[in-house]
Amino acid sequence: MKVIWKLPDGSEISAQVSDGTNMMEAAVANNVPNVIGECGGSLACATCHVYVDAAWSSQTGAAGEFEDAMLDATEAERGPTSRLSCQILASQALDGLTLIVPEV
Ligand code: FES
Repeated sequence: MKVIWKLPDGSEISAQVSDGTNMMEAAVANNVPNVIGECGGSLACATCHVYVDAAWSSQTGAAGEFEDAMLDATEAERGPTSRLSCQILASQALDGLTLIVPEV
């Protein structure tokens, strides 16, 4: 699937990602700034926070209970489409997914 990250400076990074890869791993592999993934994807850091483009938020779904609690710990302001990107897995249904990278 293709994923597009929109960066705070207005530029974009796009990449092809294999099914099953989480969006934090994909971001780190593609040098997307501000997506750190400190805990390795175990819902313990919130450094993988992104905003899902509104057009995609119904496909990616809502944050789960633990994810929701961790999102309250993000440094960037939480928005209605905030997700921890380690919890979004690549699939063909998400081909073209657009993620907005926060400032921090
Ligand atoms: S990488 Fe730590 S919560 Fe996603």
